[in-house]
Amino acid sequence: MEVAPHGAGWTRSGWRALPAAQLPQWPDPRAAGDVVKQLYELPPLVFTGEARRLTRALASVADRRAFLLQAGDCAESFDEFSAENIVDKLRVILQMAVVLTYGSGVRVLKVGRIAGQFAKPRSAATERVGELELPVFRGHIVNDDVPVPAARVPDPSRMLMAYHQSSATLNLLRAYTKGGFADLTNVHAWNQEFVASSAEGRRYEAIAEEIDRALRFMRACGVDLSTDSPIHQVDFFTSHEALLLDYEEALTRKDPDTGEWYDCSAHMLWIGERTHQLDGAHVEFMRGVRNPIAVKIGPGAEPAEVLELCEALNPARESGRLTLTTRIGVNEVRRRLPPLVEAVERAGHPVVWACDPMHGNTFVSESGRKTRHFDDVLGEIQAFFEVHRSLGSWPGGVHIELTGDDVTECLGGIEDILEEQLPLRYTTACDPRLNARQSIDLAFRLAELLRGD
Ligand code: PEP
Ligand code: CO
Repeated sequence: MEVAPHGAGWTRSGWRALPAAQLPQWPDPRAAGDVVKQLYELPPLVFTGEARRLTRALASVADRRAFLLQAGDCAESFDEFSAENIVDKLRVILQMAVVLTYGSGVRVLKVGRIAGQFAKPRSAATERVGELELPVFRGHIVNDDVPVPAARVPDPSRMLMAYHQSSATLNLLRAYTKGGFADLTNVHAWNQEFVASSAEGRRYEAIAEEIDRALRFMRACGVDLSTDSPIHQVDFFTSHEALLLDYEEALTRKDPDTGEWYDCSAHMLWIGERTHQLDGAHVEFMRGVRNPIAVKIGPGAEPAEVLELCEALNPARESGRLTLTTRIGVNEVRRRLPPLVEAVERAGHPVVWACDPMHGNTFVSESGRKTRHFDDVLGEIQAFFEVHRSLGSWPGGVHIELTGDDVTECLGGIEDILEEQLPLRYTTACDPRLNARQSIDLAFRLAELLRGD
């Protein structure tokens, strides 16, 4: 079979001729066009070489030599934009990565859902708030969540605000991950604090002690763990859902060395469960950019459709290019995942298999709040591992929604958050997130799973 060259017949704006799900209707399309023009002139947020490096790193995940930890907010918020918020999230992700590295015994790639995760796909175009039927909130890059009609009108100037917030966030992430904060000894000390801070945490004392011993061993072998050594720096990549194509198009730039196009709004981008129609605008746009990309695969996906997505998005079968992020729900994974894995593996597509245990396990609590139970999140990951292990494929990673704050949005976990506690600190702009302690708890459970305990 002849393989079409990557991106054949593709242009940056070619998606505009196709049906596009989930995009806002800008009230004044000329004003939106003007913002897109301004964004075209602004500097890229990431460098193409970094995206290529992430593709190579993801190829090592596909090749069973690394594990992917993708995590961050469901939706970043213009209202909660602060250094503290960013750093707290980074700290949790770094803590999880250290625990997972130990558990998996392989390198852990750290990819944040951060510095651009603003646009949200929604299941309905309107929502009811009290007596009012309002246009739905689509993320701060489009409109505001305040429940009054004026706030819900899509405002294209928000794309510029999202760009600048992403730029400042990325700047801080680069400083913190290269400047000493991510020092392995530091991160391990935070984990020790977590373990010591509660009776439940002490369950993980044995693992924490083993990691401690490994660090002492490294020091004894002469590995320099001081802040001047390269070991105190980490690679941290950014990602978000490539939903708002006006924004993504405007940040797509040609690499001067290779002549290829990269979406320089983030290192990695994904297509959501609601926008992966094969003849739709999102698949068309994403097939032409050379970043590593992911597609969310839900419980309704059939093997033939998933194979077509692989062909459309990775016709050259380049390892590291495509991640399939399954988000099936704890009760369906054992039945739904195997046929997908078998079809893709049989066809020889070198994908990274990642598990998003959040989106298939969302339900509305009795008090009317969207939530998820920690046990379902862990349960979907366990089932994901079981399926891959029984088929001989590599359970390559996890995709988690979390925050560094002490929120009460998901039930259960180390402090056993109960239904009646949900209103205490329920602050998400969209889906319920694991709080810091639930996230670290999950990482320790995952470490046990990776070690086969
Ligand atoms: C998300 O990742 O926040 C999301 C909406 O996911 P999905 O497309 O899988 O529903
Ligand atoms: Co979400």
